[in-house]
Parts: sequence; C-alpha cells; structure tokens
Amino acid sequence: MSAPVQVDWPRQDFSRIPYWLYHDPEVYRQEQERIFKGKAWSYLALEAELPQPGDFRTTFIGETPVIVQRGKDGGLRAMVNRCAHRGAIVRRETRGNASEHICIYHRWCYNDQGDLTGVPFLRGIRRQGGMGPDFQTADHGLQKLRVASHAGVIFATFSDETEPLEQYLGPVFTGHLSRIFNRPVRILGYQRQRIAGNWKLYLENQRDTYHGSLLHEFQSTFGTSRATQSGGVTMDDSRRHNLTYARAGTDNDEEFKALYKDNKVHESKLRLEDPSLVRSVREFDDDISLAICGLFPNATIHQISNSLATRQLRTFGPDEFELFWTLFGYADDTPEMTQHRLAQANMVGPAGLISMEDGEAIEITHRATKTEPRSACSVVEMGGAGPIVNLEHRVNDIAVRGFWSGYARMMGFAPEGAAQ
Ligand SMILES: [Fe+2]
Repeated sequence: MSAPVQVDWPRQDFSRIPYWLYHDPEVYRQEQERIFKGKAWSYLALEAELPQPGDFRTTFIGETPVIVQRGKDGGLRAMVNRCAHRGAIVRRETRGNASEHICIYHRWCYNDQGDLTGVPFLRGIRRQGGMGPDFQTADHGLQKLRVASHAGVIFATFSDETEPLEQYLGPVFTGHLSRIFNRPVRILGYQRQRIAGNWKLYLENQRDTYHGSLLHEFQSTFGTSRATQSGGVTMDDSRRHNLTYARAGTDNDEEFKALYKDNKVHESKLRLEDPSLVRSVREFDDDISLAICGLFPNATIHQISNSLATRQLRTFGPDEFELFWTLFGYADDTPEMTQHRLAQANMVGPAGLISMEDGEAIEITHRATKTEPRSACSVVEMGGAGPIVNLEHRVNDIAVRGFWSGYARMMGFAPEGAAQ
C-alpha cells in the first residue's frame, strides 16, 4: 500500500476542511485503495432484488464493477465484474438470472461462484496455439469478495481483515436497518443520477442536517422537514455512519414562520393542489417521520414521510459520481399505500422536488473550489467545534465532522491528537 498523502489540517477537530481534498487525483486513487478496496463494508443491493437462485445484479464498489448473485445453491456471492483474461466487463446487463457468466470478448466462461469453467481454444486448433502447458483454469477465476447481509441488506468487502459486518455497523445502525427492513420489502423501481462533483461532497450533504430546510423550500414549505421539529443526530463509535432524524408535527406554524421570516429564507405562498403528496402515514412505533441514514462509505437509506429508498454512491473519478436509487415499499402494502409511496418518489432522484437541489449544491461547490490554494478551507462548525458528539437537535453539522474524522483515520492522514 502506498504511503498516505500529507495533509496540513488547520485544526484537529475537522472544523476546517482543505478544499484540495475534493480534487486531488492522488487522494482519489488512495480512496479506492484504502477505503473501497480496503477495510470498508460497501453496500451492494437488497436481498429482495435477488429472490430466486441464480438472480444477479451488476453494481459497483467505488469505481470497481461487481456482480452480486444468489447462487444456484441459494448462497449470496459477490465477485469483481472483470474478466480474468484481458480485463473486460463480463456482465453488461443490470440484472438477470444465470448459472454462468460469459465474457463477450473471448468467451471465457465463469460459473455462479466466479470460477473459470471454460476457455475457447484452450488447447489450440490442430495442436497449434492454445494456452501454455502450465495454464490452470483454477488460477483464473473472477476476484471474489467477502459478503455479509443484515436484515436483507447486502454488503461486501475486499479485505480479509475487515471486522464482521455487525461490528462495522455498530448497534445503532444494525438496529436502524432492522427498523426499516422489519418485514419483507417490495422493490418499486430505480433511478440513477450523475453529479459532476466529488463523492465526499455528497457524504457531507447527506450528513448536514440543517441545509434541508434552507436549500429545499419544498421541505420547509410543506412541512416534511423543518429545523424547528424535534430530532437529532446519532453516530457510531467511529463517527463514520450517521442517522439524522426528525418527528413531523412536533413544532408549530407560528414559531416556524417567525424564525424563517427573520432569516429571509422562506416567504413562499405556494400551496399544493394535492396535499396528499406530503401526507405522512405513521408506520413506525417511534413517531420518526424523517430518517436519513448514512452508512460509510457508499450507502444512504432514507425514510422521508412514506418514501423509502436506498442510495448507492458510485465514484467515477474525483470529479463525478453516480447515485443509484432503489425505491421500495413492503410486500404487504395495500395498492393505495404503493401509490402513495410512488407519488412521494417524486421528492427524490435526479428531478426530485428535494434531491435535485442537492445535486446543484454539490456541483457549484465542486466548481468553485477547484483552483483554490492548499490553505483554503471550508468552515464546518455549526453546532460548535471541538469534540464530535451525538446531539439532540438539528441545527448542526456535527456528522460532517464525524465523517471526516472516520475518513481521515481510514486514509491514514488524520492529524495527531485528532478529535473523535
Ligand atoms: Fe438536501
């Protein structure tokens, strides 16, 4: 493994983030090596997407293409989607059912466990050509990953040294997965979104609780998330993962209007023709109506009223990433509830009434910070600087600092005496 890059942190508590970390190609290369191909568990797919033996989906860990499959024996497997011959992508479909995977380039064939089972012209033609006498098919399978699943959510890691998945997630996050995936789910559809910015800007965006009611007028206007609602931010011990939550109906319109009017951020007179779009049907015992859960490094699981989805982040260089959204409900939903969830899907995705603005916020940040000197930093101290602790309010960006602290440790460039 290469030596970590040198970072001059202006402060030890991650309340100042040097802009060049979003743009540097060597930082990006080491992120692939140390995080995505290193000791992280990355989210792959939901078991509900692979109900039958042989079902597979193509996916990514960072920039590496991966096949995740329920084998013919029912076991879950993940393997790098790259031919061991000349490096071509083997499976180009997004999903399917198969007992073997055949590369189109030279037709090398792998079974559902990733083992190489067939090589055309292996012994040549008329005793001419073919692979050398030492070539063993057993040595040239697809690269296999460790796979684990919790509550039907599938993760994989490249490293034999990564701790078990439950330990990596910690009790709060295994608990949250069990809360959301408390019964069989039904996949409702997919969305994909390319954003021209660095992937870490999205992890920040998703962990910053209070931009929601400022950037997203839809959310504050129609009450799906307002900073005046009760809620908070919870992180795991490593601060890598975060859960931001709020409870609808815990504030009042007068307080909300007074606060936002003073700050000149909210003067909308818009009304919805069909208010059922933002109706929150209570379906969890804890009254939480908004729960945005970030699982480092590549997953977000959201509950926005009755919209439920996972978002998988795929990196495509320092300047671009993709979000792959999997929208779901429950197998026992009524047809009306399914319709309601589909209507609320309009809030998210590339053209979502809420999510569209996150893409724009990330792109304008990425563009404007690109040529800054190494000393230029962003300011991250809403909710106070210093130790990084769980908070029971929402006007803070504590989880952004938490992310940077966990990330910097994994990258091997956290400052001496860093806050955690
Ligand atoms: Fe947002």
